Amino acid sequence: MKVLVIGSGVAGLVAALESSEAGHDVTLLTKSDLATSNTRFAQGGVAVVLGDDDTVAEHVADTLVAGAGLSDPDTVGILCFEGPDAIGELIDRGVQFDMHGDELAHGLEAAHSHPRILHAGGDATGAGIAYALIEQLRRSPVTIREQTTAVDLLIRDGRCFGVTLLDGDELHADAVVLATGGAGQLFPYTTNPEVATADGIAMALRAGAVAADLEFYQFHPTSLAAPGNFLVSEAVRGEGAVLLDVDGNRFTDELAPRDQVARAIAAQMAKQGGAPVRLDATRFGSEFLAKRFPNIDAACRSQGFDWGVEPIPVAPAAHYYMGGVRADAWGRTSLPGLYAVGEVACNGLHGANRLASNSLLEGAVYGRRVVEAFAMGDAHDPFEPTWAEPIAVDLGGGRPDGEPFARSDLQQLMWDAAGLARNADDLAEAAAELATWRAPEVTDAKSAEDANLLVVARAVVASALARQESRGGHYRTDFPESDPAQATHSAVVAR
Ligand code: FAD
Ligand code: SIN
Repeated sequence: MKVLVIGSGVAGLVAALESSEAGHDVTLLTKSDLATSNTRFAQGGVAVVLGDDDTVAEHVADTLVAGAGLSDPDTVGILCFEGPDAIGELIDRGVQFDMHGDELAHGLEAAHSHPRILHAGGDATGAGIAYALIEQLRRSPVTIREQTTAVDLLIRDGRCFGVTLLDGDELHADAVVLATGGAGQLFPYTTNPEVATADGIAMALRAGAVAADLEFYQFHPTSLAAPGNFLVSEAVRGEGAVLLDVDGNRFTDELAPRDQVARAIAAQMAKQGGAPVRLDATRFGSEFLAKRFPNIDAACRSQGFDWGVEPIPVAPAAHYYMGGVRADAWGRTSLPGLYAVGEVACNGLHGANRLASNSLLEGAVYGRRVVEAFAMGDAHDPFEPTWAEPIAVDLGGGRPDGEPFARSDLQQLMWDAAGLARNADDLAEAAAELATWRAPEVTDAKSAEDANLLVVARAVVASALARQESRGGHYRTDFPESDPAQATHSAVVAR
């Protein structure tokens, strides 16, 4: 069959290679070059149970705790159980994880009960994975189309049969796999590259698919407080670096869950009149830091910081989207013919908060599973999005006479109203403001992205307003506690 994979991160690359090896006629398109993706920038590593005294049951348990009551145990079980095989396959495909003697080096990370984090090139794990898979892809029969932006899904008789491109061309396929990654560009401060503009979620919503858990966004506590918000990996705090206020005092537990550390930093910054806090790694010295964290070291130096001798300014930034296109454990969505894998998908794995280092693994595991779904064909029971009755949100183009908007205005509005701390008044005001904005006419990649960001911003704000509790990545100052009665997934469709 004809398979169209959209996106060249770990999920898209694995899905394309697997589909091709299964005998399908595969085209992969990606809107920049193959290596531009969140995957390419992943640092800390990939979580997997390696034996020793670690167990799949403990990896499952850690993931469920992070998910704050919303991770689906079956989906988590699949990730942790199939993880070792998927990693073995990455190694067979040429990925070189760092070794410690004859064994794969594996470190401990916050919220993992065992050392199970593999890394490559020290702090360049994502690049190690991306470049090895890209090399294999280039040698495979897969048709590669770089600098090619998918704009909309083609639907006939309720079935997805392809996409439209920027120039109006259509690409047709029996199966369309969304692997379009995250949405960090919804916010002004993000660790994500520029391609992370929520395209897949917006396309799916416009086509009538169900999206889920859109209120759950993960903010990373420590990005370099300088243009580009380069990620300063949790592994740095894992090694023992500490957070300091303007007076040089520690103010929080550096290894508490990610959302708590991010909020503690944001609160401290507010007390300091917005000034960033400092991350002090000086006790390790420049030589160790350059060897253990070569990428972060280079990023610090390029911004004029020598973190071996001075604490560096850090601030929270949008990092990972738990919400996405509702998918099942094979990547099937609510629209026949449309599949979603990796960060764009919401299959219940991460629940309300993702455990660090689980998403590269997700791409490797679920990128493989989607090919099994093709084999099931339409004879298999169709996917039923049973989680929650979707709320219908007006995601359309806005008022025809509405205001054009600048992307930076949308990002600031989202940061202020739907960022680390939310409340009903700000969210309602943001919803009203977004409703007055007019989606741009799509004439180029930037206008297509802006239109997508507007659709998803509206859906995020509606979802965040509807969840009147705090859970995982969603924190409401007016409902600061979790409410057991709301321990359910949310879902959205376009009205
Ligand atoms: P991506 O890797 O984001 O790929 C999406 C692809 O889709 C891109 O190629 C993009 O160009 C393409 N695309 C998007 N829209 C379109 C369109 N309209 N048309 C055509 N192509 C399109 N996770 C871990 O597990 N461990 C880590 O250590 C880790 N560190 C991270 C560090 C950073 C700085 C960041 C940003 C993320 C990190 N993550 C980490 C998260 C992880 O990298 C991502 O969740 C994961 O790589 C997502 O993979 P993906 O294949 O789903 O999407
Ligand atoms: C980090 O290295 O801190 C990020 C890891 C992740 O997002 O999984």
